[in-house]
Amino acid sequence: MTEKLLFATNNQHKLREVQEIIGNSIRVFSFKDIGFTEEVPETQNSIEGNARQKARFVYQKTGINCFADDTGLEIDSLDGRPGVYSARYAGEGCSFENNIVKILAEMKDVDNRKARFRCVVCLIIDNHEHLFDGKIEGAILKEKRGIDGFGYDPVFLPEGQTSTFAEMPAYLKNGISHRGRAINKMVRFLQNYPG
Ligand code: IMP
Repeated sequence: MTEKLLFATNNQHKLREVQEIIGNSIRVFSFKDIGFTEEVPETQNSIEGNARQKARFVYQKTGINCFADDTGLEIDSLDGRPGVYSARYAGEGCSFENNIVKILAEMKDVDNRKARFRCVVCLIIDNHEHLFDGKIEGAILKEKRGIDGFGYDPVFLPEGQTSTFAEMPAYLKNGISHRGRAINKMVRFLQNYPG
């Protein structure tokens, strides 16, 4: 079992979440820890493509076993948008708040609130790629609730729950979330690696 992995992200929220999901068995370190400052490309038109692109770029540059994740929020009434454009839905350089304002405006008179987060994790270990995915179904509320988490968390109510992702403790979100499910699959794979 591997003991250390580089997580290809600059997002400190994600880093914290992923370390909590993985626990103590594997130490996750970040770009900051190794002084990696290059801009990582994310130009593909699918979340699988972006997860692969980010992991490949970082592995090629560093030669360190690493993983990258990519997430999309798919809203049924918006034909699956923002999807692969979830990070910059309201425009280049926009904030989480800008994105929430945009989807709530687009869904103002919409009754069908069904949505899901989909996450793909691409692990590159010893020069081999492995993909893991995770999904959580839910609904987009009409207004924000809660202050924890990040991104679209305050307006996402997971199916079967009474709290949004931004209202629930981290361990609850991580137990059911798209990222939690994908990362847990990776952890199970690594527990048996190299097999
Ligand atoms: P990324 O490409 O994986 O960084 O994710 C794209 C965007 O999806 C992020 O900028 C967030 O706005 C949103 N996102 C990703 N993961 C989550 C989450 O766990 N909760 C809420 N929003 C998320």
